[in-house]
Amino acid sequence: MVILGIETSCDETAAAVIEGVGDKIKVLSNVVSSQIAIHQKYGGVVPEVAAREHVLNILPVVNEALAKADLPSPPTPLLPQTAPQAAGQERGANTMGVKTAPFSRAFKSGRKVGMEGIDAIAVTIGPGLITSLMVGVETAKTLAYAWQVPVIGINHIEGHIYANFIGANPKFQITNSKQITNSKSQIPNKSQIPKIKFPALILTVSGGHTMLVLMTGHGKYKVLGETRDDAAGEAFDKAAQLLGSGYPGGPAIAANAAKLKVKSEKLKVFLPRPMINSRDYNFSFSGLKTALLYKLQKDKSWKKKIPEYAAEFQQAVVEVLVAKTIRAAGEYQVKTVILAGGVAANQLLRQQLALTVKEKLVKVNFTMPKLKYCTDNAAMVAGAGYFRARSKKFTDWSKLRVDGNLELK
Ligand code: KG4
Ligand code: ZN
Repeated sequence: MVILGIETSCDETAAAVIEGVGDKIKVLSNVVSSQIAIHQKYGGVVPEVAAREHVLNILPVVNEALAKADLPSPPTPLLPQTAPQAAGQERGANTMGVKTAPFSRAFKSGRKVGMEGIDAIAVTIGPGLITSLMVGVETAKTLAYAWQVPVIGINHIEGHIYANFIGANPKFQITNSKQITNSKSQIPNKSQIPKIKFPALILTVSGGHTMLVLMTGHGKYKVLGETRDDAAGEAFDKAAQLLGSGYPGGPAIAANAAKLKVKSEKLKVFLPRPMINSRDYNFSFSGLKTALLYKLQKDKSWKKKIPEYAAEFQQAVVEVLVAKTIRAAGEYQVKTVILAGGVAANQLLRQQLALTVKEKLVKVNFTMPKLKYCTDNAAMVAGAGYFRARSKKFTDWSKLRVDGNLELK
């Protein structure tokens, strides 16, 4: 089954084509047009600007995903040449550099374009920025109507979870009790790829949410706990802003922490580990950011110690996430621990969670997405769509609605 995925919940305009066979998802194309450079000057995502950029980019991005997928009978590009003409850009090519067919050609040809290539369209319907979500959803509805294919509404968080079901996961090899390597030369053979067995516990962490979710089967979720205030990614973004390190904050904090010369145990800066010992599975990161702010206000020479502050902040977030995940995994006796979301790109989190699962949870598998599928993309949305399509969970295109606060159920 071939699925076109569309994702526009925040500041990435993304489209991808995947092919699902049995339990395997093969990515045929994965196109992400990032707006990071546009939002950087505001220090965060500006919703109106994001929505407008999605409108400009969505058709070229979908077109490029379809073209790159190299389908046996590719759909005729439906798209008008409405993408902005960047200075010096070739006429007839859009921002993604893809030549598009005139809008009228597909309709004049009288055939149902897309029928031969795409079996269903999966699109993110929430949670996220309403006006951004609407661009993807309206595009999906229009294509579903024009191509006469079913459409599947996907929860963005579910999309992040299914990033773990794409292809082989990277193999983390434990070389000794402290050190983990993740080298390309250690590509796993089939038997080394950790299997996702249910029940699974998912730690899903991004700029918009932080949750521990019990997954008992495909599409079956119970939220065990979530953040009461800031998401982990949001905390990274705000901490980076305080340290003057730019946006997005997660990679900036990680890069600064990597400059640290001393070992993390020898840090002089100390920040709290919020709610690490609370008996529930909720999180709170807004106090951590405030604690950092107070430390910086009291320290006249903080600008000389940015790596130290960044490393301690990163360590505090990771320790809380790992501790709560391990405790929940033990209590619910899960067979797999799954890491998901944009913050899953954080190397310290990847390493410490992999290592702690191995050390503390005997016989429990651990998976995390490949780096390119951690942050927002449409392959993960199409992947989640494939598993929903297998159980025929389609939505009538005319009934598809966005929900900025959509819950994971
Ligand atoms: O999933 P995502 O792309 O978008 C949302 O759904 O929010 O996640 C983006 C978040 C941002 O807050 C960003 O700072 C964080 O993920 N992030 C990271 C890293 N890469 C991205 N956080 C920590 N370390 C990273 N390497
Ligand atoms: Zn996301």
